[in-house]
Amino acid sequence: MRLIAPSILAANFLQLGKDVEMIQSAGADWVHFDVMDGRFVPNISFGLPVLKAVSGMATIPLDVHLMIVEPEKYLEDFRQAGAQRLTVHAEAVIHLDRVLNEIRRMGMAPGVALNPSTPWESVKPVLHLVDTLLFMTVNPGFGGQKFIPYTLDKIREARQWLEGRGLKPHIQVDGGVDIHTIGALADAGADCFVSGSAIFGAPDPAAYLQSLRG
Ligand code: DX5
Ligand code: ZN
Repeated sequence: MRLIAPSILAANFLQLGKDVEMIQSAGADWVHFDVMDGRFVPNISFGLPVLKAVSGMATIPLDVHLMIVEPEKYLEDFRQAGAQRLTVHAEAVIHLDRVLNEIRRMGMAPGVALNPSTPWESVKPVLHLVDTLLFMTVNPGFGGQKFIPYTLDKIREARQWLEGRGLKPHIQVDGGVDIHTIGALADAGADCFVSGSAIFGAPDPAAYLQSLRG
């Protein structure tokens, strides 16, 4: 089954509550929430107060993707603001084992994210600790970018390796996911699809979300 996690980075912030309701009634599985700090990525998005507001009305899990340096400083803050799933970038964390265990201990589902240029093998030793392995399929920082095709090989290799070990984390893909790219990503082994501009930019976002399910 394909899980769909619309990224509200592409929502209309003047009516964020309405947009979240819209994706929920269209059958979205998770709300994807992109936090950017202007240091790990060259852009700043939104953070804790906005997450708290969304968590007050969301009925589906909040899937928080931290594109920030030193994410370990803010795990408890994100938990309190309503994050149920919390993903940190491997490139931003020195003690990944510790951080992933901490996220789990706090009662959230831990995830690790990889930039397109980061080999997935670098996180092999900790993949038994994660609920989500997030492959960035664009360089993180902005919505609306073009999908990078070489990421498909990474996804395929990782899925094969995980299956060989009986591990079943979600393989999530993020960046340039739309009706044209989702098939190849699913074939490669992804099962969870973040999509921002394609869904929110569609004339009928609810119908578009449904069409992503294939
Ligand atoms: C990019 C973010 C993505 C972004 C995806 O750094 O992590 O979640 O919102 O946007 P689209 O689907 O427009 O590529
Ligand atoms: Zn994201």
